[in-house]
Amino acid sequence: MRHDHLITSKQLSRADIEAVLDHAAEIAADPDAVAHRHDGRLLGLLFFEPSTRTKMSFETAMKRLGGDVVDMGSVESSSVKKGETLADTVRVIEGYADALVLRHPRQGAATMAAAFVDVPLVNAGDGAGHHPTQTLLDLYTIRENAGLDDLTIGIMGDLKYGRTVHSLAYALTNFDANQHFISPESLQLPREVVYDLHQQGASVREHDGLEEVLPSLDVLYVTRIQRERFPEEQEYREVAGEYQIDADVLEDARDDLTVMHPLPRVDEIAPEIDETDHAAYFEQAHNGVPVRMALLDVLLGEPTRGDRDE
Ligand code: NCD
Repeated sequence: MRHDHLITSKQLSRADIEAVLDHAAEIAADPDAVAHRHDGRLLGLLFFEPSTRTKMSFETAMKRLGGDVVDMGSVESSSVKKGETLADTVRVIEGYADALVLRHPRQGAATMAAAFVDVPLVNAGDGAGHHPTQTLLDLYTIRENAGLDDLTIGIMGDLKYGRTVHSLAYALTNFDANQHFISPESLQLPREVVYDLHQQGASVREHDGLEEVLPSLDVLYVTRIQRERFPEEQEYREVAGEYQIDADVLEDARDDLTVMHPLPRVDEIAPEIDETDHAAYFEQAHNGVPVRMALLDVLLGEPTRGDRDE
């Protein structure tokens, strides 16, 4: 990869993506081969927003490469509470760790923080901006289940605030994908994202209902309404519960439709779908480990075991 920091999926070429996904597949097939590759290395975790999967899978990935993590912990228990700036926090933790993972509620925070550090910094979500490592594991899951060539995908839910959606949409412009965006009008993709996608020559259509596109889909990617990003709780309540994928809704879907979700889900996918062949969202979450191992391996560079052998 040409970039030391991973901030948005716009940085990633098709070759970059395929290299990470191929490496992830190798790791998934033989994790022992890399079990000591980064012995003694440390990954700094800076999560200014709640996280389960992203944080724990980064931690698992680093440990499975032989390394360990240093974790800032919650904002409540860190010096951020005393008014420390993000720039100072990352400059300090850079001195403790070989790479940093940052999640922050402010869009653009990762771009700003990366300007202050020399170690690789990975954006694990910046407000309603981007979440490129989620995209890598999404692409891995799509590749395994439906293939990335000649793909017809429906991306549904909170397209306005959903950072996983923005990152995925940009990344898919590297592939031959028909992208259908389905949402209530108030949660449509930001106009600048639609503009960019058109500029990239992507095939993009927007819909306010699923019915007309469902039968053509290889993949349906569902997202949670991002309650915490709404300026007013009232605006959230107006759209809450607007859509739910259940067995009735999927009546007209192809038998081989793959249903994905970055998780956590609230009520967008009924539990009755979990046991069907459509459901790929838990597998998707599990894919976060080999994919993040592959990415960390690329960003951390030369293995420590190699250093010792020299
Ligand atoms: C997503 C996020 O944080 O953007 N979660 C995740 O990392 N899997 C999606 C969400 O919170 O809805």
